Amino acid sequence: MAETKRTATLSFDGKNFELPMLSPTVGPDVIDIRKLYAEADVFTYDPGFTSTASCESTITFIDGDKGELLYRGYPIEQLAENSHFLEVCYLLLNGSLPTAEQMENFEGRITRHTMVHEQMHYFFRGFRRDSHPMATMVGVVGAMSAFYHDSLDINDPWQREVAAMRMIAKLPTIAAMAYKYSIGQPFVYPRNNLDYASNFLHMCFSVPAEDYTVSPVLAKAMDRIMMLHADHEQNASTSTVRLAGSSGANPFACVAAGIACLWGPAHGGANQACLEMLREIGTVDRIPEYIAKAKDKNDPFRLMGFGHRVYKNFDPRAKVMKESADEVLDLLGIHDNETLKVAKELERIALEDEYFVSKKLYPNVDFYSGIILEAMGFPTAMFTPIFALSRTVGWISQWKEMIGDPALKIGRPRQLYIGETARDYVPVVNR
Ligand code: CMC
Repeated sequence: MAETKRTATLSFDGKNFELPMLSPTVGPDVIDIRKLYAEADVFTYDPGFTSTASCESTITFIDGDKGELLYRGYPIEQLAENSHFLEVCYLLLNGSLPTAEQMENFEGRITRHTMVHEQMHYFFRGFRRDSHPMATMVGVVGAMSAFYHDSLDINDPWQREVAAMRMIAKLPTIAAMAYKYSIGQPFVYPRNNLDYASNFLHMCFSVPAEDYTVSPVLAKAMDRIMMLHADHEQNASTSTVRLAGSSGANPFACVAAGIACLWGPAHGGANQACLEMLREIGTVDRIPEYIAKAKDKNDPFRLMGFGHRVYKNFDPRAKVMKESADEVLDLLGIHDNETLKVAKELERIALEDEYFVSKKLYPNVDFYSGIILEAMGFPTAMFTPIFALSRTVGWISQWKEMIGDPALKIGRPRQLYIGETARDYVPVVNR
């Protein structure tokens, strides 16, 4: 529990209310308003939770002004440079970096869970082939609670652990199956001699009829995409997972809820939306038209892949991702395709244009991840599923932390009601 060192005073109607102030290890102090309604008979109003801390957490920290992202205290740039996705998973789940033995053990456990129940293959066949892979994933991950009954008891730490392992191990398999199903190719079983990222690429791009070798540069880029998306404190999908979990729902159902939330274009769906926007712009000469649309208050259009709720200086994930994009494009010899030209010019203009500079709208992680994923050969519809499989460890870590918190309460926000006051029902003949 964070320390209380001082209090804030809230005054209204001639009365004063002392509110404890909690001090985090880093970041702004937090005014504790838990007893406010009981003592002062008022609610607070904060649509979109722009100023509200919903929980205590020890997992991830973001300083939006400095452009800093820490997983368990470690800067994302250092992890991206020196670590790998499964080590980051261990770190997020357990709080510290693993020893060599712990890592071997963890990797072994994840690897043993990569296959899905064979009956799930038939479950997939219930979907239309043209379903969006995110639609399939919401359904299939939710259905895991119908397949893995022995890891549903949230009060048993061992079952929580097994559910966590299952989801981290199986989400790439499920995402790859959703892809293969959508293009009419046979499912490819996981290969446990490959590392996590290579295995995912293998399940997506190999076919039984031919040998397929995963490029180490592409595997490294995929691993980085996974690391950079692994957690991001109390964002919309993570808060959704926590809210769903606060009722005691099983972890598979909670992660399915997180996937549903992630799908939206303001969140994880931005990587797909960004690439579609670049294609729609089509040629560099049309950029000014789109910049004008983005600035027009009467036009709902936004430049996808720009801006962030928390980062108001730069997105540190975007910086790392830009480097990876250059490596991948170099390897694949992609230098001057039209989409890339549009992306580069759009980035240049937005970084100089007064509107974007003054509103601190910088390219975010999704601006570059879409470019990499397209170069690797993924269709845009797979961009958000890749975000989802990468974020699964963050969702699970946050869910585990919440379940283990003795202060856990079911999430139940209040509202500022502005509807009708009580009125009598009018029979249809009198209306
Ligand atoms: N293009 C044009 N104008 C924008 C954009 C944009 N992408 N983003 C924000 N603005 C303007 C907005 O119109 C508003 O202007 P004004 O002050 O004149 O009303 C101002 O900037 C502040 O915007 P906001 O909507 O209050 O900011 P927010 O913190 O609620 O929204 C955001 C953050 C990410 C939803 C938003 O920037 C956005 O919609 N970006 C495009 C979608 C996107 O790329 N999302 C991915 C985020 S990174 C991945 C993740 O972590 O999920």
